[in-house]
Amino acid sequence: MERLQKVIANSGICSRRKAEKLILDGKVTVDGQVVTELGTKVSEKNTVEVNGVKLVASEKEYYLLNKPRGIVTTTIDDKNRKTVVDLIPTQKRIYPIGRLDYDTTGVLLLTNDGEFANMIMHPKNEIDKVYLAKIEGLVTSDAIHALENGVIVDNLKMAASKVKIKKVDSKTNSSFVEITIHEGKNHQVKKMFEAVGYRVDKLKREKIAFLTTDGLNSGEYRKLSHKEVSKLYVLANKK
Ligand code: URA
Repeated sequence: MERLQKVIANSGICSRRKAEKLILDGKVTVDGQVVTELGTKVSEKNTVEVNGVKLVASEKEYYLLNKPRGIVTTTIDDKNRKTVVDLIPTQKRIYPIGRLDYDTTGVLLLTNDGEFANMIMHPKNEIDKVYLAKIEGLVTSDAIHALENGVIVDNLKMAASKVKIKKVDSKTNSSFVEITIHEGKNHQVKKMFEAVGYRVDKLKREKIAFLTTDGLNSGEYRKLSHKEVSKLYVLANKK
């Protein structure tokens, strides 16, 4: 158990003195109750919110990796191949949030925070996962409408929340399509296109919510800021 002001300050959002002021001003809740008592002790099990935003304990780690092609999205690979976790040096037991295929590139989040991982993955939270797919063939608007209305994949109806044709190139017989989904079923994008008669040649996850690979070369990573983690919680709770 730690003193509330210490827990707030350790999360990195402000100094201990500022934390004390926030508590005295009634801006802090513990498990939903406003707490104005400075000495209040809390543990990891308590949910602390400051100005309505959940506090992120500092021992939790959150990374954004620009996943390269040819790396498996697991913590350990039975064939001894390099995994996404090998690209991030940390003492913490982090794991990828959801899965990108061996040949898929782009935004991948990794963490040791199970609650955060579930929040990002759960379709009910409607966190956008935006992919750019290079498709073999010339994609029609009928196919786009079918993807938006829902197609049957592995006996489940799966609909994209948004689909946009970016380019159709008759010379190379290929198309680029941006598709936004909220779930993260195995090979979902590839299977959805397959269901409407197309093969995905290349796939990149361009975004998870507002997070992109901007500033990161393939294989590079960065830590998410406290603000970004909080913003994701705010987005999820709005749904
Ligand atoms: N959908 C796929 O088909 N593959 C991925 O890697 C991610 C989403």
